Amino acid sequence: MKKVLTKDLSIGDKILKFDRSWMETDFLKHKFIIKDQATIDRIKRNDIQYVYVDAQSSEEKKVEKIYGGEPEEIIEEAAELNENNLIDLDDFNSTTEIYKESIKIVKSVLEDIRGGKLFNTGAVKNVAENITELTMRNKGVLASVTKLRQHDDYTFQHSMNVSIYSASLAAHLGLKEPEIERIASAGLLHDVGKMLVPTDVLNKPGKLTDDEFSIMKNHVQLGYDFLKKQGLPQDMLRLPYEHHERFDGSGYPRGLVDKDISIEGKIGAVVDIYDAITSDRVYHKGMEPPSALKLMFKWADSHINKKVFEFFIMNIGIYPVGSLVLMSTNELAVVGKTNLNKPTAPVVLVFMNKKGQRLPFKAVNLAKSSVNDQKIIGPVNPEKIDIPDEIYTYIDNMNKAE
Ligand SMILES: [Fe+2]
Repeated sequence: MKKVLTKDLSIGDKILKFDRSWMETDFLKHKFIIKDQATIDRIKRNDIQYVYVDAQSSEEKKVEKIYGGEPEEIIEEAAELNENNLIDLDDFNSTTEIYKESIKIVKSVLEDIRGGKLFNTGAVKNVAENITELTMRNKGVLASVTKLRQHDDYTFQHSMNVSIYSASLAAHLGLKEPEIERIASAGLLHDVGKMLVPTDVLNKPGKLTDDEFSIMKNHVQLGYDFLKKQGLPQDMLRLPYEHHERFDGSGYPRGLVDKDISIEGKIGAVVDIYDAITSDRVYHKGMEPPSALKLMFKWADSHINKKVFEFFIMNIGIYPVGSLVLMSTNELAVVGKTNLNKPTAPVVLVFMNKKGQRLPFKAVNLAKSSVNDQKIIGPVNPEKIDIPDEIYTYIDNMNKAE
């Protein structure tokens, strides 16, 4: 429940309570969803200064619209959500640096643990603080750099990504800064137990035998015991301890069901699965985000909590026609045409490199498997970029052609 001034109300907000007894107003009930401006005006006329609203209702409404809607609506809605997440190129460069440096720190912390040393809590805190600060400033910028493959050792980059996605998801869920930072730390440490699993099992490329799989699963208990012994507070242990628990109780180590899994555990499960299936590994290529999301949809309410998953979708960019985006090739492009069945892979018109030098522009269809290595990193703030008119003419014709 959130206290909101009457002047800040908007359509879609779910009112739970007024600042006075309902007898003193001309409303018959206090619990309702604002459907139109007239209702807001009526609340004002009743001289109600503030109301209590359901803290998540308007965000939830957006998510519902995203998933209930037609592809065109999905794109429009997601674009609106992305508006606050525009990347400034300077910001992006410094974020990329922070990301790279942080992975190195995570690596050294985790390798210390593997070597039987005490781990460096200060280093973990520093990285978590950076992640939190960047997330609070812009929920999208860090999530966008997770797509840059920086490290050949999966475990370190995965720990970093789980931390970033968890922090961003926590922010989308409306958690406050100290909680976000705690979750960012927990994300960095979620797989410490793997450092205590024999490396031949951990790095075995093929399928694990039943025995090896039990050893591997044991990383959760090992990690929990280790972190507890290091004196980490209980609330920081929840994500590491519960990230393999599943909605229907089929997870491990304790077989908890949804109602017994903490919010940290639910966040951990969603982001751990997402990063695992979208990451390139030595022996297989990661899935593209749209296929990963589709697959995860099937698991909603059997393996993962659907609500939490729906909020996670907001971490994944969908870009409308005409928006300026940064490509994984370090080039800038304008989205030319949306592939409706693959909204995260449109046709883009590449026209400039990141230094601002014009390139002969070319259309690239990201939905084609031949351009697998090219991805959109994120939406760019177009203010300082000079986009040539010919691109817009081209886009117009391209969309008129059908
Ligand atoms: Fe794990």
